[in-house]
Amino acid sequence: MTESNLSIIQKEVLISRKRSLSIVIPTYNESKNIVKILDSLRSALTREMNAEIIVVDDNSPDGTSNTVEEYVKNSKNPSYSIQIIRREDKRGLSSAIVTGIEHAKGDAVVVMDSDLSHPPQTIPQMVEELQNSDCDIVVASRYVKGGSVSGWPFKRKLISKGATKIAQHGLGIKIKDPMSGFFAFKRHIVNNIKFDAIGYKILLEILVKARGAKVKEIPYNFIDRTTGSSKMDFSICVDYLQSVWRLYRYGKSVKTNERRTSVHFLSKAGRFYTVGASGLLVNYFVSFMFGAVLSNLWYIYATMIGIVFSMSSNFILNKIWTFEDRNFDTKRTLAQYGLFLGFSGIGAVFQLLLVYGLVELRHLNYSIALFLAVAIASVGNFLLNKKWTFQEKVWS
Ligand code: GDD
Ligand code: MN
Repeated sequence: MTESNLSIIQKEVLISRKRSLSIVIPTYNESKNIVKILDSLRSALTREMNAEIIVVDDNSPDGTSNTVEEYVKNSKNPSYSIQIIRREDKRGLSSAIVTGIEHAKGDAVVVMDSDLSHPPQTIPQMVEELQNSDCDIVVASRYVKGGSVSGWPFKRKLISKGATKIAQHGLGIKIKDPMSGFFAFKRHIVNNIKFDAIGYKILLEILVKARGAKVKEIPYNFIDRTTGSSKMDFSICVDYLQSVWRLYRYGKSVKTNERRTSVHFLSKAGRFYTVGASGLLVNYFVSFMFGAVLSNLWYIYATMIGIVFSMSSNFILNKIWTFEDRNFDTKRTLAQYGLFLGFSGIGAVFQLLLVYGLVELRHLNYSIALFLAVAIASVGNFLLNKKWTFQEKVWS
């Protein structure tokens, strides 16, 4: 591998180590609260957190999104950046959160309400738990020791407890407050989740679908809003039952799907090799075209151009098709491209060494040695890119 490849990889590692945080805040008719919450986040978030706030507003009739825009214009030197996503219609809390998560760029994501029920002062502790313990999800919990709910009428408490019991018994959820609307997680754990995003309970869906994720609960005091009104109503309770039913069926099907993991894995490997083969064609044709059209171009240069084209087309096809990654954030995509090139370089060197070793030391026939070396190097390449470049579990 060349020195420049090495430095690309080192740079990417540095980029990925840089801590960053996305805070997703769904809003509907919260113009009276949103300024207060943005203000109190200002004192809770430090610059080192490198935080971005993503407000997802469903075209609130009270002009919440305009209030946020004004706020952004007038704020000097904030310790975080603010982005507002305006959706045309009211599509529900869970779906707003999913939209926010899709736009998030941080390594960690925090989800919280905008009505001051969820204290921003708890965020640093949530982030620290994510960074320093081995958990993937941190739930701010009303129902662990030290947590509480204030301001809710008996009826609302009852609904919350009932919903919690349903989740615990029906879905085998172990934690105390799976209904919490205040939680943080490492962003990569939701990469492969296809959300139903029905109703209010997006955390529950993450808990069920991000299998293997480690969860930790920390206490907080939920304070009911003093301004504006809750958007919880009867239809959201019905949505809840529907979403639990779907998650229940999902849990059942995952068990049968376990066998299908091998099918998924093989189909991805198949795509990866198809892309590899397409790269050979691109390489050949591009080199040939450059060699033929620019007749005074040295054939080695033409070949180099062919290599660059084919590596790039391999990368793009693998990103979009093989690993179904549609996030084209510039930094992220460049980091992936760097890793992809780095692994190709390592693979090439490894293949050379292996062929040499097999032919010279084991006295194997060249064509057999070449076949073995290509097979081993390409499997390695596939696995490395799956795990590190596209951040998937190896066996999935
Ligand atoms: N964009 C968008 N679209 N935002 C919405 C929508 C919607 O359709 N519906 C609600 N929101 C926003 C509200 O503006 C608020 O910021 C947040 O979602 C929570 O809505 P509330 O109506 O205040 O919910 P709640 O107080 O009854 O319940 C909350 O707290 C509980 C305890 O943590 C929710 O977060 C529950 O999920 C949670 O169990
Ligand atoms: Mn609320």
